[in-house]
Amino acid sequence: MEMRNVVVVNSRVVWGLVAVMSLLVGLHAHAAEQVSEAVMKEAKEIWQTRCATCHGTSGKGDGPAGVALNPKPRDLTSEEWQKSVTDDYIEKIIVGGGQAVGKSPLMAANPDLAGKPEVVRGLTKLVRDLQGK
Ligand code: HEC
Repeated sequence: MEMRNVVVVNSRVVWGLVAVMSLLVGLHAHAAEQVSEAVMKEAKEIWQTRCATCHGTSGKGDGPAGVALNPKPRDLTSEEWQKSVTDDYIEKIIVGGGQAVGKSPLMAANPDLAGKPEVVRGLTKLVRDLQGK
């Protein structure tokens, strides 16, 4: 009798764990779905070939073409700045350039990305990932 109770309790624990784990796997798969790996790859390439020229690979504003600009691109790794802006704002400045959000036109527009909202989301994700780096 006692032994049977132990088995019942154990199997409940196991099923509980299985439920939690499948939930976690499900959430993870969902997050990955939002921006596919292929799109993230394209976004990373764009970051390296376009954005990093001014912003620097790590987003600190120290790209070869960035240091000479006035105003200089700010440090995108700053937690304070990250908190002060929305994803919508970042997406808008990427596609429309600085002018679209009342900032310097030195922040180049990327009109070719207007028809690629997923890539813009990927770039925004990359900008978000810079925080604290
Ligand atoms: C020709 C240089 C240049 C390139 C290329 C460039 N930027 Fe910028 N970017 C700037 C400058 C300069 C600013 C600052 C504008 C200001 O402060 O008025 C800026 C600002 C920004 C901001 C907003 C920061 C703030 O102050 O609110 C983001 C986000 C950003 N850039 C992302 C990108 C991304 C992503 C790319 C690539 C798709 C990119 N930039 C390409 C020069 C550039």
